[in-house]
Amino acid sequence: MKLYKLAVISLIVLVSCQSQKTENKDSEMDMFISKLMNEMTIQEKIGQLNLVTPGGGILTGSVVSSDVEAKIRNGNVGGIFGVYGPEKVRQAQKLAVEESRLKIPMLFGSDVIHGYKTTFPIPLGMACSWDMERIEQAAQIAAKEATADGIFWNFSPMVDISRDPRWGRISEGSGEDPYLGSQIAKAMVNGYQQNDVSASNTMMATVKHFALYGAAEAGRDYNSVDMSRLKMYNEYLPAYKAAIDAGAGCVMSSFNDVDGIPASGNKWLLSDLLRGEWNFDGFVVSDYTSVNEMIAHGLGDLQAVSALALNAGLDMDMVGEGFLTTLEKSLKEGKVSEENINTACRRVLEAKYKLGLFDDPYRYIDESRPQKDILTKENRAAARETAAHSFVLLKNNKQVLPLKKSGKVALVGPLADSQNNMLGTWAPTGDHSEAITVIKGFNNVIGNDVEVLYAKGANIVDDTQYAEKINVFGPKVNIDKRSPEQMIREAVAAAKKADVIVAVVGEASEMSGESASRSEITIPECQKKLIRELSKTGKPLVLVIMSGRPLAISEENELADAILFTWHPGVEAGNAIADVVFGDCNPSGKLAATFPRNVGQIPLYYAIRNTGRPQAGETFTKFKSNYLDVSNSPLFPFGYGLSYTQFAYSNLQMSSTKLTSEGAIQVSVDVKNTGNFDGEEVIQLYIRDVVASITRPMKELKGFKKEMILKGESKTVSFEISEKDLRFYNSQLHFDSEPGEFEVFIGGNSDQLLKASFILEK
Ligand code: BGC
Repeated sequence: MKLYKLAVISLIVLVSCQSQKTENKDSEMDMFISKLMNEMTIQEKIGQLNLVTPGGGILTGSVVSSDVEAKIRNGNVGGIFGVYGPEKVRQAQKLAVEESRLKIPMLFGSDVIHGYKTTFPIPLGMACSWDMERIEQAAQIAAKEATADGIFWNFSPMVDISRDPRWGRISEGSGEDPYLGSQIAKAMVNGYQQNDVSASNTMMATVKHFALYGAAEAGRDYNSVDMSRLKMYNEYLPAYKAAIDAGAGCVMSSFNDVDGIPASGNKWLLSDLLRGEWNFDGFVVSDYTSVNEMIAHGLGDLQAVSALALNAGLDMDMVGEGFLTTLEKSLKEGKVSEENINTACRRVLEAKYKLGLFDDPYRYIDESRPQKDILTKENRAAARETAAHSFVLLKNNKQVLPLKKSGKVALVGPLADSQNNMLGTWAPTGDHSEAITVIKGFNNVIGNDVEVLYAKGANIVDDTQYAEKINVFGPKVNIDKRSPEQMIREAVAAAKKADVIVAVVGEASEMSGESASRSEITIPECQKKLIRELSKTGKPLVLVIMSGRPLAISEENELADAILFTWHPGVEAGNAIADVVFGDCNPSGKLAATFPRNVGQIPLYYAIRNTGRPQAGETFTKFKSNYLDVSNSPLFPFGYGLSYTQFAYSNLQMSSTKLTSEGAIQVSVDVKNTGNFDGEEVIQLYIRDVVASITRPMKELKGFKKEMILKGESKTVSFEISEKDLRFYNSQLHFDSEPGEFEVFIGGNSDQLLKASFILEK
């Protein structure tokens, strides 16, 4: 036992004359915490439930904590976020462990959503890589960099399933699918925690936002959610559970209501489900002032909502200080019990114990680390590769891409030379000045035989009021002094001189993310005009589209010869884009979220249930389920993405057409690379439960593999299906499979699949 822990224990033994309340558990941790808690006053226990931010980072609420130093000294702070760097973290921790009465160390947290300083692509982009090793590696690198700066508690992964691209925060998650989302949740928790949260280069993960935040009505942020339990259990909850099963130490409650009760005060959610059904044993932190926000939800005054939250099972109150300022009063008035305060306090202290803070409160502070561990060449190389693997090639007529490294390229568009927009939303620890723009990336990669003719061509948006809303965290949209017409003329002039046009268009980084919902999800009109004019030149037109959400790009899909959808690619953006555009890397991303044709189709996702009046094919049929003005199909389906090469699927084989509860079926397919490039392909397996006691999705992803297949090579790729893959929650919320026929589909996207079937016998 280290000196520090001994000091805390001897302090406890000296001061304590109280007999210990016996706890069931008698592990070293339990004994240690019990002893410590015996020394704590009620207010000190409540202090552990208080999470503050002194400001300085990106603030997502209107409140910032005040008098932070005094509160730390008085034992009124359990954790802090928005403080970075060994020196500052040491200073703050010192106040807690040297100047507070019980010397309890604080948690230091942050939002490290897609990399710390080495910013990776936005999470939705990374999800499109379908590459669990890269995603885990990105999380591992983030943890190494963040801990080098003294941060050891991460408010990530964000695993909210979302099927509504109007919602700006779809950018922060892994898209629409519970299976893919669950695999990614697991990979991220493993990457952050690496099975040992106490190691000096790992950080505790927080799964958020529990729960259903991605299903906000009309895609408007923070809006109500209303959903059947069946949909919750089968589609929206699995990703949270996967993160918890992978050992995430913390859960963050969401802003929205669930079944009419805001998540932060929802006992069913935070206690019955999370702890009762799922056995979660970490602690639950609220979202930013989400306890206080229950006042606006109409659940009572601050004292009432704080008591509601504690009684529901919330352990730590982020920024709002409802716990700090009202729980003692509620205890006196019998509105909360001492037991509930103790339970919450114990959970927070357990996390500190597991992180090793009682052994050494300064364990994550090492002044030599930032220099060694942050933004290293290796980390940047990983970010560059991950970005290149997250891009989705949506169209590539006549093999326009990859471009040859010779000739003249017109590089146009408002995002071609826009350093401030490369990192993407929610990169509060990233540094824009480190980001590689597309023009820089091109110059790094093209060699001597390509001439780049640059023109901005358009603003991201022309409307100054709109720009102001986007520019809240700094200038993302610069409205040019030149007129829109002038800029278009310059771009067209460059295009006319070039062999090919590459137009880098789309959203500014803060056009998605928190509080950035959009009711139209098209490319802004001023950029659409540019694209129209460019297409009129008759030169091959390549669109590189950056965005934090799926966009409705039907018109651009008609006008462009090639479309590479790059999301916001992170600190190595320009290099990664140049790698793919000029063929040093063959794109292999596949959509993790469906692209609708227009907003009216939303929510649109592949795993739909059949109606009683399904329409066969695309032709409108009266009295079938359809629209008068748009077809049912998406513009690009889930799982879709092209490569510079082509893959042919054949020979779907099954080891048996009968499956029993104990057995397994092997399903295999041959995938041949029939094109001219080596390439990676994501082979996807879907299953349909043909007859069941409830309506079931037409297809559900149940497996995938990403394989490198060399030019001319054919690979047999196999999957195993067992009875447990066929289970679902039925009307009684019982998780089981039902016997009968199942269809099995394998292919390169959710729409183009080979099919076979088998029978489950039970
Ligand atoms: C966001 C969370 C984030 C928190 C702290 C909130 O506004 O919803 O995702 O972790 O702020 O920064």
